Amino acid sequence: MTHQEIRQRFLDFFKQRGHIIVPSSSLLPDDPSVLFTTAGMQQFKPYYTGQADAMKDFGSLNTASIQKSMRTSDIDEVGDDSHLTFFEMLGNFSFGGYWKKETIEYAYEFLTKELKLKIDYVSIFKGENDIPADEESEKIWKKIVPDIKVKKLGRSDNFWGPTGNEGPCGPTSEIFVNGAEVWNLVFNQYYCDKDGKLELLKTSGIDTGMGLDRLATVVQNKKNIFETDLLEPILKLAPLELEEKVKRVIVDHSRAIAFLISDGVQPSNKEQGYVLRRLMRRVITHNFIAKADLTLTHDKSLRKP
Ligand code: SER
Repeated sequence: MTHQEIRQRFLDFFKQRGHIIVPSSSLLPDDPSVLFTTAGMQQFKPYYTGQADAMKDFGSLNTASIQKSMRTSDIDEVGDDSHLTFFEMLGNFSFGGYWKKETIEYAYEFLTKELKLKIDYVSIFKGENDIPADEESEKIWKKIVPDIKVKKLGRSDNFWGPTGNEGPCGPTSEIFVNGAEVWNLVFNQYYCDKDGKLELLKTSGIDTGMGLDRLATVVQNKKNIFETDLLEPILKLAPLELEEKVKRVIVDHSRAIAFLISDGVQPSNKEQGYVLRRLMRRVITHNFIAKADLTLTHDKSLRKP
């Protein structure tokens, strides 16, 4: 199945289940406390808190999207089998329309029936400090798959958000396929204020996110994201003589650079422009250093006396 088919199947699946498909927002969010759009839920933040009305704006309490996302926190991991700076995130969202049962059932059905994948195990929030364990999700999973393996983890693994200084957040259930985390189901029950204090939201919401490259890796039965039909064609363009890791960095960063520029970012010495400049510099230096190393190793005539 190609990545275009995966995208289309995802959108069709949620459309058939009453979701309105909303286009991706820009990589540059309205929220001044963050540099980039890092998750699908960001454009929907006001709908979780009641500041905006999903019925009025979308004609439905449920939406789905494929969101352009940019994360620089893992930039040093890029080049391994699964990390990227730019990626597309498939997500379904609900602002009071449905809750954990439907979310888990949809995810299970989409992965196992539509994509014919086998789930290794799932994780749920085990409870920490004053936040209770998510026993409800465990029961729902076990009702669907009685012998499913459920890992129970704490706040650093199974609690998501907020993005920026404040916002909706909550316990998560993550789904693992072929050893990789493919889908993060977030149950937005709380609002986290600027001081980190949690309060229950008036209406609980759903926010899920699944990276397209990782999903394509398991659907296409590849060993890593760079073997998928999303990235392999770009990898093939990299100079053959470069080391695999260097090629991967160049591929990831070049794609991120193209999307940042197409959303209006220009190289500069601050904020988003600085990140763009840094990515460009990394592509150029990786390419240059790798080539210089090779030159020194292979072409003796170019070595200094
Ligand atoms: N917001 C969550 C994430 O980015 C789920 O969409 O993982």
